[in-house]
Amino acid sequence: YEAWLNYGQLKSGSLYNQYIDWCVELVVTEDNETIQAAAAEFIQGMTSMLGKAPLLTAKPEGPCIVIGTFQGGNPLISRVFAGERTDSLGPEGFLIRTNATEQCIAVGASTPVGILYGVFHLLRLIGTESEIDALNLSMSPVNGLRMINHWDNFDGSIERGYAGRSFFYESNQFLNDTKRLRDYARLMSSVGINAISINNVNVHELESLFITEQYLPDIALIAGIFRVYGIKLFLSANFASPIQIGALETADPLDPAVRQWWKDKAGEVYRVIPDFGGFVVKADSENRPGPFTYGRDHADGANMLGEALEPFGGIVIWRCFVYNCKQDWRDRKTDRARAAYDHFKPLDGRFNDNVVLQIKNGPMDFQVREPVSPLFGALEHTNHLMEFQIAQEYTGQQRHLCYLVPQWKEVLDFNTYAKGQTTLVKHIVDGSVWGNKYNGVAAVTNVGDDMNWTGHGLAQANLYGYGRLIWNPELTAKEIAEEWIRLTFGTDKGLVVAIRGMLMDSWRIYESYTAPLGVGWMVNPDHHYGPNVDGCEYAKWGTYHYADHKGIGVDRSVKSGTGYSGQYMGLNASNYENLASCPEELLLFFHHVPYTHVLQSGQTVIQHIYDTHFEGAEQAAQLLATWESLEGSMDSGLYVQVKQRLEEQAEHAQEWRDRINTYFYRKSGIEDLKGRKIY
Ligand code: GCU
Repeated sequence: YEAWLNYGQLKSGSLYNQYIDWCVELVVTEDNETIQAAAAEFIQGMTSMLGKAPLLTAKPEGPCIVIGTFQGGNPLISRVFAGERTDSLGPEGFLIRTNATEQCIAVGASTPVGILYGVFHLLRLIGTESEIDALNLSMSPVNGLRMINHWDNFDGSIERGYAGRSFFYESNQFLNDTKRLRDYARLMSSVGINAISINNVNVHELESLFITEQYLPDIALIAGIFRVYGIKLFLSANFASPIQIGALETADPLDPAVRQWWKDKAGEVYRVIPDFGGFVVKADSENRPGPFTYGRDHADGANMLGEALEPFGGIVIWRCFVYNCKQDWRDRKTDRARAAYDHFKPLDGRFNDNVVLQIKNGPMDFQVREPVSPLFGALEHTNHLMEFQIAQEYTGQQRHLCYLVPQWKEVLDFNTYAKGQTTLVKHIVDGSVWGNKYNGVAAVTNVGDDMNWTGHGLAQANLYGYGRLIWNPELTAKEIAEEWIRLTFGTDKGLVVAIRGMLMDSWRIYESYTAPLGVGWMVNPDHHYGPNVDGCEYAKWGTYHYADHKGIGVDRSVKSGTGYSGQYMGLNASNYENLASCPEELLLFFHHVPYTHVLQSGQTVIQHIYDTHFEGAEQAAQLLATWESLEGSMDSGLYVQVKQRLEEQAEHAQEWRDRINTYFYRKSGIEDLKGRKIY
């Protein structure tokens, strides 16, 4: 339950002595609630890690830790940071200095939340057993918004939730479990999250009422807990609210009465929650209401809400997950991959300043492997956010191990060629390329009321890793994994190396038995779990691999296909367009080829499918074996829980292997060169 904030007892030794020496006293002189929360966190963490509580004081008598804002009046802070340049730190950054003359380690920031982040960082350094004798750190988050999206429903269910039920609601009531909410806020704040939307983007009838006086007091309670930890609360809003919960007959964004209704509504919300973040909106997407009903476009819809929130400093986060979900499979031109770009690129420049578009990382829907959405780089005049999915909807639903940080890193490091030869997605997303006022990353979370938050114990690494990565996209996936393991399991070398190896290999392993060469969606419809090659094929939502007896893949070239590859810029467009230069992990995403097409490895496509599926299943079994070698070196409850999941994964990977191999063997009629058993 404590996850990476479990503050496990450290072993005695030279570092332990170093910590004991510095942490005799904690000096705090400001009574701001966020600074007090930081102090409480520090005392809790140190007491648990060292077995000794630091003394809280305003006046130290010897070596100490001191925390405070630069302008807060603490003389020690003023002396340590005298003459420092602090303006570039921004409102959320912090400095940490070990100062021998003053005999202190000082955490300073311009704001209370900067102090909180600094304290969490110091605790992380100690928890991972790092030296603190000569600290000279200056850190600020790279991304402005670092957001979590919950897909929790008021009835307690969670759309695409794999870790139990909601800890916000049950049976259409607020749970108001303040302890859990506070612990959640601590976890999120410890990795730098500063915004959380608490209800599903599919806003149903009762959730539409969240912005009324009936429910606002409950929401204010959650916002109050979040506030202490530097987190702004957002709500998903229903575009049709003026009709559904108001007395209007239309939700037309250009209708003056509708506009007034939203303005009044915003006023009501801000009276109860003065620092409310704003709305997240899924409109004209998968049958949700939106401006199309009235012949208006997304800019009209989003700007109406932007205008209503603007006087209060709120923002509208408008999702770009818009596509035709009533397709006819015979129509080979309608391509779901094209949709977001086709809808939003023409609107670039028309959105208000406080409207932020939220774009899924890929053009489809959080598949194991997808190209990066071509909208990144294409929107020069519009605020926008990246949307990732921490919940493993298509990546094993927290029953399979799939550490997603390497995938997210690939996306963030992708070169779009949008402005010069090197224009990486991470620099677009952090606002530096186009100078966006609002920028950052959001992600669909993977938590629920399971005791360990994420179902699979190792899926906590994705939650932790998401926060750390978007705070600083320069961190490597391996560094993040290592930090998380050390904080969660302790610093035993063998353990760290083994679990880190498992995490780092897991995405590739999952890909190899589920998603060959960029084909996704071979899952059961609706719940999206388990193998089913044609499960989603030829559905109204889209068609994804077009496998027949001759070949497989989707022709998305400009020359002969849907033209999707033409949405990219520079080298990307030509690389994807041509079979010879298309990166092989995306080959079947961009091209339809015969099963006998030869890859760079010299292997045919069909043989590649067989090989990767046999290998992937073996590697899944190996994950279990590695874990079993760790028995006895960790808490037994955690060991057993993860072992059970890995057993299920190993078994399920065989089912994946067999279903996929058998399907393509029967379709193609081509034998496995290695003569293995294919049913
Ligand atoms: C996916 C997912 C849905 C979700 C949607 C969205 O399609 O399966 O459950 O509502 O994405 O992102 O809006």
